[in-house]
Amino acid sequence: MQLIGSRIKKELTPLSIKWLRYYSPIDFTKAMIFLILGKKGSGKSALVETLALRYPKIIDLFSSRDDEGLAWCRDSSPIDDILLVHGDNVDLNCSWNTCKTSDLTLKKMLEYEVVIPSYSFFTQGAGRFAGINKIIDLCWDRRKWKKPVYIAIREASSFLYSRIKQEGGGMNMKAAKANFIFWQREMRHFGYALGIDTIRWTSVDKEMRDLADCQIIKKVGSQGLPRDISFLYNYISPRSMAGLPPSHFMLIAENSAIGLGRSACPKFHKEEGVDLLEELGITIEYGTPLIETTSQRIGDEEHVKIISLYSNGKAYQEIAKTLKRSKSSISDHIIKHNVAVEEKALCPICERARADNADRAIPIRGR
Ligand SMILES: Nc1ncnc2c1ncn2[C@@H]1O[C@H](COP(=O)(O)OP(=O)(O)OP(=O)(O)O)[C@@H](O)[C@H]1O
Ligand SMILES: [Mg+2]
Repeated sequence: MQLIGSRIKKELTPLSIKWLRYYSPIDFTKAMIFLILGKKGSGKSALVETLALRYPKIIDLFSSRDDEGLAWCRDSSPIDDILLVHGDNVDLNCSWNTCKTSDLTLKKMLEYEVVIPSYSFFTQGAGRFAGINKIIDLCWDRRKWKKPVYIAIREASSFLYSRIKQEGGGMNMKAAKANFIFWQREMRHFGYALGIDTIRWTSVDKEMRDLADCQIIKKVGSQGLPRDISFLYNYISPRSMAGLPPSHFMLIAENSAIGLGRSACPKFHKEEGVDLLEELGITIEYGTPLIETTSQRIGDEEHVKIISLYSNGKAYQEIAKTLKRSKSSISDHIIKHNVAVEEKALCPICERARADNADRAIPIRGR
């Protein structure tokens, strides 16, 4: 009996490929990039899950707004070793293990089979993107690895948006795409397989598509295939491609092998119109929303970062360089924090973000 995580291999949601040109079986022991393109409702997210099941560990990084990634918690899912990640200013009441973003480490993430920072577990905007970006940053710490960890990205444009937000407006879409391409390329070296699903698939640049080890094309609708992969019409009629059922897909492998794939829908996949939070009995209490960082304004998470970096011995100059801010705005924030602690016993910004230093003045060095 072969096990993948706690799953029995032969009981996994079925997935098969009939090779039409060359032969190129998918090697799930490698850090592969799967890019799944297709129309709304074409079965992309279900396939992201079916592929994920082939990997021992999964980070469901970008769930959709309806918390689709929480489907791993359903009784019908083969996984019960789950960590739910939430914002620092959010409390989760549920029967799964939970961790707030600031306590999360790579070691902790790797103790679980599935890590889910679900959409509703963060306050709007700033809180959510800070959480996702923290996980992305932690991924780089994996310098030694044997088996790949699978990262599910259920909507590629959310990834781009989060990077734009993180840089406080200092990054535009073009830079965010370049950053995403760089990230995809580098993640392989740190042992991450990626399953990327995107609905805005015509806006996925050729460069991004070329990076994938497996391009998976689901139902394309009347739009048809992008010109650079229209050679697929030598293997499937335009009519069939336009109306592929959600169980079917065309696959282009890295060695230009072409296959017609078939997969079942995982039993636990979220159906439309179902509220998983209610079904799973998860209740959420939100704290005060965090103020977002922009290029003009230091937001709450960035304030917390400044205080933490300074109290850990970093100089103004170093912090300014890391955060791409002026030295004076760094020192202003430290002074603002200390004045608030002295006058009101609490820094309201740190309090909002539930940071550890909220009631602690930070000794100013070198005076
Ligand atoms: N492999 C499959 N076999 C049979 N039915 C499927 C399969 N995959 C998905 N379905 C059906 O199609 C529905 C939509 O699937 P899914 O949520 O994966 O689509 P999607 O492409 O991610 O949609 P969206 O673009 O809205 O995110 C599922 O709820 C399920 O009923
Ligand atoms: Mg989907």
